[in-house]
Amino acid sequence: MLAIETRDLKKTYVSNKKSPGIKGGIKSLFSREKTYVDAVKGVDLTIEKGEMVGFLGPNGAGKTTTLKMLSGILYPTSGHASVLGFTPSVRNPEMLRQISLVMGNKMQLWWDLPAWDSFVVLKEMYEVDDAKFKRRVDNLIEALQLSDKVNTQVRKLSLGERMKCELVAALLHAPQIVFLDEPTIGLDVVSQKRIRDFLNTLHKEDNCTLLLTSHYMQDVQELCDRVVVIDHGTVIFEGTLDVLTSRFSDVRRIRLSFSENVSADEIAKYGKLIGEASDTAVVEVAQKNTASATAAMLQYLPVSDVSIEQVDIEEVIRSLFTEGR
Ligand SMILES: Nc1ncnc2c1ncn2[C@@H]1O[C@H](COP(=O)(O)OP(=O)(O)OP(=O)(O)O)[C@@H](O)[C@H]1O
Ligand SMILES: [Mg+2]
Repeated sequence: MLAIETRDLKKTYVSNKKSPGIKGGIKSLFSREKTYVDAVKGVDLTIEKGEMVGFLGPNGAGKTTTLKMLSGILYPTSGHASVLGFTPSVRNPEMLRQISLVMGNKMQLWWDLPAWDSFVVLKEMYEVDDAKFKRRVDNLIEALQLSDKVNTQVRKLSLGERMKCELVAALLHAPQIVFLDEPTIGLDVVSQKRIRDFLNTLHKEDNCTLLLTSHYMQDVQELCDRVVVIDHGTVIFEGTLDVLTSRFSDVRRIRLSFSENVSADEIAKYGKLIGEASDTAVVEVAQKNTASATAAMLQYLPVSDVSIEQVDIEEVIRSLFTEGR
């Protein structure tokens, strides 16, 4: 069953051309000259119910624009989008009740109220019944360790605490699809990890569909079965992280432990030594030579343990972005 489908989805932002300065600002009010930004240039997505998909791309690639179109905030310029069988721009209440958009850099909670008060307003908006609300919010608050924070004015919370409250607010109506736009942006590594663990549990328990953007590869690695990479408004890759790394990187790293120290020269016979050699070493080899190099080292060096690693996903993504250009 499909959760999200788009075909040739496009968005062009149109704004009045503005010359610099105050005079320019006034002139632009009356000017007919427009500027056009083709933010999304024909995106095709097919996402099954229950999938966790990473939506990646450099700054300005069109990720937020796409998520806004999928959640019915922005009207597409052309193309087709279907979310749970609904056309998002119609903003059918039945659809809105089943989706949620969380933006790491934009708050939905009322700044001057305790988060709890916002939760209650949202409960009414989404018509969640009392018992369900209580169970759901209690669970969310416990999972995010927020019990002593929900009665404090939101403005007095730390960034991480606020983000967690945002998550509760976005999830209390138990949406089937959750769009997450950089949910961990600006958080320290411990809070990022908590949010990832929370999202993993949520996904398991609710069997919801998650479409997530992040510039942190750890998020993607821990959360996403599959990634869609866009650049300049077009999809440049779609598939699993494994396929992404194997397609865009032709090297592998072999990590070795030795029962006695081995010299750098000895290791260099088999591949490129990364860092220092002692009783452990990391050797980089061409992907096609992985098997033979590993076999040779096992035979000729005092190897006590070996593991083969793909290169860093961040490196892969970086090279993909530069190639894409
Ligand atoms: N309201 C707007 N009016 C005009 N242009 C816009 C508007 N919003 C976004 N853009 C432009 O559309 C393009 C895509 O922006 P978008 O916010 O979708 O990128 P993004 O992939 O989310 O980037 P980031 O990783 O920085 O969040 C950019 O060139 C941006 O400048
Ligand atoms: Mg964005």
